[in-house]
Amino acid sequence: MMPQSHIIDLDSYTTDEWNMITELAQRIMKNPSYYHSRCSGKVMATLFYEPSTRTQMSFQTAMLRLGGTIIGFDNPSVSSVSKGENLKDTTKIVSSYADILVIRNPMEGSARAASLTADCPVINAGDGGHLHPTQTLTDMLTLKCEKGRLCGLKIGLCGDLRNGRTVHSLLKALSRYENNEFVLISTPQLALPSYIKDILNARGCSYKEVNSLEEVIGELDVLYMTRIQKERFSCEAEYEKQKSIFLLDAEKMKKARPDMIVMHPLPRVDEITMEVDDDPRAMYFKQAKYGVFVRMALIICVLENRLGTGKGLCGKLHSDVCCKNPKCITRTEKYLPHTFITRGDILECEYCDERILLD
Ligand code: CP
Repeated sequence: MMPQSHIIDLDSYTTDEWNMITELAQRIMKNPSYYHSRCSGKVMATLFYEPSTRTQMSFQTAMLRLGGTIIGFDNPSVSSVSKGENLKDTTKIVSSYADILVIRNPMEGSARAASLTADCPVINAGDGGHLHPTQTLTDMLTLKCEKGRLCGLKIGLCGDLRNGRTVHSLLKALSRYENNEFVLISTPQLALPSYIKDILNARGCSYKEVNSLEEVIGELDVLYMTRIQKERFSCEAEYEKQKSIFLLDAEKMKKARPDMIVMHPLPRVDEITMEVDDDPRAMYFKQAKYGVFVRMALIICVLENRLGTGKGLCGKLHSDVCCKNPKCITRTEKYLPHTFITRGDILECEYCDERILLD
């Protein structure tokens, strides 16, 4: 079998490869009918173990607009997952029916796990609070089209930075471009995980952590709002303490630059008032539409083997060590090899990036 281009973490690919995808997306936007039968005869499976509107439907419409067909489920309870079938077997079977497999699952590292047994390329459509690489491609296309560049931007990221997988993937990507500055706007409880801060530090990126949107909004080229991720909290009381702290409204927009854009991966709950929707700087609905074109481009690049193969597992096997993250896929899929990357006196789980300090 040819090596597969699994899209698990964009960090496995070069910026030239990212640019190839977003540039193809821009060509598709200009002339969509040219691509209408590009994937004729190909089948895409979408396995959504978690709710989704944009990611699932934009992948589906992307494949249909390329002339391909789609299979899959958007609710595992109507599949044999409800009878106890594990991720390995589901992936093995469905990947033998399809040419490309798109998966969303609440467990962190689940897409990486699925890629180990799949017979076709796997695309991570969101693995718990960990990563969401195709949202990041969408965000990069939005920035290219609306700001004209991916470098030299001051970007504020506001809300649930701890659980926001779109934030994690976006920071990992934009930290590869020169002269970007990040303003991390959250409560201490919802601050960015330390492993992402370590990546920013290692890449020499400038960032600051603040707790007031109002105080920094006037400095920003881009404001990336996020929802507080209720489903990632261990109890309702903790969520209640964190919700509704950050609000973008028309009053705050008055303090923003005339050319600042507002992005949001959506869904929105209550963090942006609807009056902001009519502000020409509100880009979130357009951003969701860019997601279709970027996913069309990604499907073509993956099916036509235009990308490298990314990284499989390359860490060391530590069968006796268990990842401490209760949401790591190795907690539920017991057959998975426990592999870790060694970073000094730290072991980093290869599925979810959780760190364990060695004694
Ligand atoms: N942005 C995003 O992932 O939206 P959905 O959860 O609706 O797919």
